Amino acid sequence: MSLDFNDETFRGDFTYRNSERAIKRFPFPFPEDNYMYSVNMEPHVPGPVGSVFEHMFDVDEHYVSEMRDRAQVLADDPLRCQSLPHMELAGWDLLELIMESKALDYPHWFSLTKDGNQWHWVNRPLQIEQKFTFLDASTLPCGPMEYITRQTQGDFTLQDQRDEDLWIEAGMVTTQADWSLDFDIGMSFKQWHAPVPLAHQLGIFDRALKFLLKLQHGVPVRRFNWTMTVDPLLDTSPENYPKWGPSKTTMTPETVGRRQHLRVELQTLHRLPRSNAIAFPIRCYLISFQDLVTVPKWARRMHRVVQTIPDELATYKGFIRNKPLMLDYLAQFDDGLPTSPGF
Ligand code: HEM
Repeated sequence: MSLDFNDETFRGDFTYRNSERAIKRFPFPFPEDNYMYSVNMEPHVPGPVGSVFEHMFDVDEHYVSEMRDRAQVLADDPLRCQSLPHMELAGWDLLELIMESKALDYPHWFSLTKDGNQWHWVNRPLQIEQKFTFLDASTLPCGPMEYITRQTQGDFTLQDQRDEDLWIEAGMVTTQADWSLDFDIGMSFKQWHAPVPLAHQLGIFDRALKFLLKLQHGVPVRRFNWTMTVDPLLDTSPENYPKWGPSKTTMTPETVGRRQHLRVELQTLHRLPRSNAIAFPIRCYLISFQDLVTVPKWARRMHRVVQTIPDELATYKGFIRNKPLMLDYLAQFDDGLPTSPGF
């Protein structure tokens, strides 16, 4: 594996680690000392150099190992990748968006050469070289969405738009926070969001859907979501709950700093040009509590967020059981000083 990328695991011996650089650029998601759901969307425009927003699709030190983990999940459970037949065009739109962005943003790792519909793609970190005919699926080893998302960090769903609603009808979902593509496929925006507490009553999904139905091509938006995960596990799926659920019961005061991870999802939304579908990449970043508290303002704020979070949210996010353990650990790093708004 090249020096740019870690050789690590997200299961078994859990050798996943963040370098100092990765900790510094971690997308800490809390602008305030407390947290409640909101329609927290902003334009997905390039951010500071080195930040996770610098490029349209962030490629970081975990890239190669994450792709290896995805391949393993798919080998065990092919239903993590599904695309209803009418979504193939959206898959091509997504492939184009990702290939063009990566070739532009990371020319030392990726290149895309076009001669009409004859495309030549090179992915150096994964040692892939592919000549194919754009819009002709018989020239790729698998469907276009599967092909490109096996080479791109984060989960992906594709939503068709019709009848003033969005329908989740394709996806590559191997790093999810306890929801299932196989269960949700074919559902509408409010149907797949049905399990979320409080947000429906706050009108959040009404407003978000209204906004998304008008999303324009070339003007992507982004938002953060977050949850908590014991051990740096990417695949926290309901399908595999028996494998990872019990690990929540074995954390102790001695291991909480090392094992408890804040899981942040950088979610972006892109209108696709040919299909008019919406692509929804969900990029997962994990940081252990012991790394998080090396940044004093994050440590203070994390303590206060966990302390004040409504029980409904801590239950839904699956950490109510370990909340006292987490608070005891984080309290040592909260000196009571006021924090300033923003990240
Ligand atoms: C949770 C999908 C856009 C807000 C979820 C869940 C899924 C999902 C599958 C988990 C539900 C469960 O428990 O089974 C999507 C897709 C979107 C999208 C495919 C794109 C079309 C949005 C937007 C908002 C939003 C724009 C903005 C307000 C939320 C919230 C949760 C949630 C607040 C609860 C998350 C948590 O507490 O961990 N979403 N979502 N979603 N979604 Fe979305």
